[in-house]
Amino acid sequence: MYTEPTFAERLRRCPAAARPFHELVGAAGRAAGGPHRDHLDRIARALAQAPELWRPIARHDPVARWYAHLLHTDALEVWLIGWEIGQDIQLHDHGRSSGAVAVCDGVLDEQHTRLDRTGPLRARRHDRTTTFSFGPSYVHDLGNTGPAPATSVHVYAPPLTHMNFYEHTGAGVRPIRSVPVTGPDPGVPRRVTGDLVAP
Ligand SMILES: [Fe+2]
Repeated sequence: MYTEPTFAERLRRCPAAARPFHELVGAAGRAAGGPHRDHLDRIARALAQAPELWRPIARHDPVARWYAHLLHTDALEVWLIGWEIGQDIQLHDHGRSSGAVAVCDGVLDEQHTRLDRTGPLRARRHDRTTTFSFGPSYVHDLGNTGPAPATSVHVYAPPLTHMNFYEHTGAGVRPIRSVPVTGPDPGVPRRVTGDLVAP
């Protein structure tokens, strides 16, 4: 019977590609005061640049964004997200967590602001050359406007406890709802409670 490959299996089967990832995750875990944004950025980039680790796992679901929870430690967590054309996520923050995102494949469009910023959302486009990081006050929306499916790696520290969703009023952002992030469930990708969304 065919079973989908797991990230742990990919790490075991590809030791040369896994070594830099393990070393960076270890260094982030030992950092005084917790991982810095630079740590998250390097982990996201290292994983995105090792397609043998993520490509056999990645999926793209035309019905809803696909995602897998790859790693969870006391210090950080790592997600892999597959975006079909047209899929996006509402404006959100990441609770008290900082994060980093690396695009592995395709292109993602982002609109972003900060909790304390007034005025219009800012826009930028990310491709395979892009890694970006952010702190807890960062609010953004990511989406795939095409022309091909996209895949991205997301690293958060400390691990997510909740996400807040917002609407943009023109003058700034207004909170709509807060969603707890539960888990991790052993062997099961984590899901945001009550909703098919992921960071
Ligand atoms: Fe996000």
